[in-house]
Amino acid sequence: MNRISISFLLLCTLTIGACSKSDTATEPPVVAGNTRPANLSQYNKVTAGLKDYFTAGEYFTMGAAITPSTVDNTDASKLLKRHFNSLTAENGMKWSSLQPNEGTFKFADADKIVAFAQANNMKVRGHTLCWHNQSPDWIFKNGTATASKELVLQRLRTHITTVMNHFKGKVYCWDVVNEAIDDGSNIYKATNWYNICGEDYIIEAFKAARLADPAAKLFYNDYSEVSPAKRDKIYDLLKKLKAQNLVDGMGMQGHWNINYPSNQLLSDALEKYKSLGIEIQVNELDVSVYNTNTDPQTTFTSWLEQNQATAYGRYFNIFRSYKGTITGVTFWGVADNHTWLDNFPVTGRKNYPFLFDTAYNPKQAYFTVINF
Ligand code: XIL
Repeated sequence: MNRISISFLLLCTLTIGACSKSDTATEPPVVAGNTRPANLSQYNKVTAGLKDYFTAGEYFTMGAAITPSTVDNTDASKLLKRHFNSLTAENGMKWSSLQPNEGTFKFADADKIVAFAQANNMKVRGHTLCWHNQSPDWIFKNGTATASKELVLQRLRTHITTVMNHFKGKVYCWDVVNEAIDDGSNIYKATNWYNICGEDYIIEAFKAARLADPAAKLFYNDYSEVSPAKRDKIYDLLKKLKAQNLVDGMGMQGHWNINYPSNQLLSDALEKYKSLGIEIQVNELDVSVYNTNTDPQTTFTSWLEQNQATAYGRYFNIFRSYKGTITGVTFWGVADNHTWLDNFPVTGRKNYPFLFDTAYNPKQAYFTVINF
């Protein structure tokens, strides 16, 4: 190699070195103050997470729904500790998990989630004491006959009292009744609960919950909660419960998508629930990339990533404008590797509804949400 080519090589090396150096130098500093990461490389240089940007004092707690195995997964638990200060059991506190057979209570899975939360300074939201799904058939049977209203209500009271006593001081709020309002023209959904007990099961559930743990905040929780017809029926129920001091908050599930709901629908619903003087929590937030049940399965394209970020940005802008009323926002999962939407409403259609991707890395939606 002659002198000229050696100098040429040297020049190339220096140029490449200088080039990569100046690339790093032009990235905005992200370590201190209010500067927030805007891309993965900046994100990897800081330790702050959602809960640090949405401080519980000024905004709301940031939560995630998890399964007991989530806490055993190193990547997932690391992500949980960085970003969240509230946990919900995705299934572990439902009736079929806690009391599969009459009188046999199984707390181990739920306790594991609570222990992880306590060890990491996180709150726990209880979900859910009374629902028509994931509730065993025995509740509604007396032998082979349908159980009487009295028997069903007695079982309801026993379940609520036992469960709330078990978690007293560890679970700060409960979704007492979940999804009682009808999607069509009836007021209440025609479930086993309603068919046997009428509206009384709702009132009795809240009474039992108030009695079991007067310090716990009691929520009614439902989906399609921003749709005006259903919203107004939920409002009427909340009003009735509030008049008897039986409810403290409205739980908006928040199973939305990249187009729905509009800012108007969301603000109108928040305004309406807020007018009752109760808290609001968004409890099951996920933003589907599909609009309809017939949309074909897709990969997570950059177009979807942008549109989902825009939607998340809209929702959180509105949430922040209701700080003080909205006291918690919980995602119905952690990262895109695990979501019930992979099998609902279409079985086996992969979805990507969260702020973190299948490898637990932040998506554009994360950067949009934290940069306010
Ligand atoms: C879902 C869970 O995510 C699934 O794992 C389970 O198979 C069915 O229930 N509304 C609720 C939640 O209140 O409890 C539901 O969770 C999702 C819809």
